[in-house]
Amino acid sequence: MIKLTNVDKQYTDHHALNQVSVTFPEHQTTVILGPSGAGKSTLLRAINLLERPQAGQLTIGEQTVDFSQPIANKEVLALRRKTAMVFQSWNLFPHLTILQNITAGPIHVLKQDKAAAEAVALKLLKQVGLEETAHRYPGQLSGGQQQRISICRALAMNPEYILFDEPTSALDPEIEAQVLRILQDLAKDQHSMIVVTHNMEFARRVADQIIFVEDGQVAFAGSSTAFFNRPTQRIADFLDAMKF
Ligand SMILES: Nc1ncnc2c1ncn2[C@@H]1O[C@H](COP(=O)(O)OP(=O)(O)O)[C@@H](O)[C@H]1O
Ligand SMILES: [Mg+2]
Repeated sequence: MIKLTNVDKQYTDHHALNQVSVTFPEHQTTVILGPSGAGKSTLLRAINLLERPQAGQLTIGEQTVDFSQPIANKEVLALRRKTAMVFQSWNLFPHLTILQNITAGPIHVLKQDKAAAEAVALKLLKQVGLEETAHRYPGQLSGGQQQRISICRALAMNPEYILFDEPTSALDPEIEAQVLRILQDLAKDQHSMIVVTHNMEFARRVADQIIFVEDGQVAFAGSSTAFFNRPTQRIADFLDAMKF
């Protein structure tokens, strides 16, 4: 389980997270929705300690840290290993082959044997239908293919949770569907996932839990069914605004 308790993040001129308390259950998919600037990325980045809130607690599994206290480097590294992030732009290493991109973390961070890491990487590539790209470079692949590779790279680290920050917003609709289908398969396999997306159809079909964030606050946390039943006027307005 990942749990945030009273998490507060203040940028110089913006209160990005305002006393956020939320739980992300294991083996479930939580979809985070909300308008641009709501604090969704800040929330994900706080879980991965890419962003350091000023107050509140973060629990991942057995480990809890208090953001108002100094956090030892060892603790930061241990927490980071429990999650892997997939970003909107796929930032693969351009000078490494696809296989090297996927195995770099397992070999250098997890100290896995090279042959074993490569075997896992090839299996993951097969799962996303890209085994033939193993020896190519990222620049030779399309955006959608590179995003599927980033998902493999995250999975290869065997994280407890995978965090996706708008993983399809830079892709064409047809390619977006391909990538979302991979996320749906991961959800069916009971991976623990947190997905920030603007794709309502994905949220409706795949989310076990929906979190609606606005102005740095959690304005709704509950089932997908409850969310799409338009529980508040604000959520009804948001859902209407997402239609054209
Ligand atoms: N590094 C930063 N410094 C100052 N303000 C920031 C920084 N990162 C984000 N913000 C502000 O915090 C708010 C929330 O940002 P973000 O979490 O990226 O929102 P979302 O992902 O929901 O669009 C925005 O108003 C944004 O401008
Ligand atoms: Mg964002």
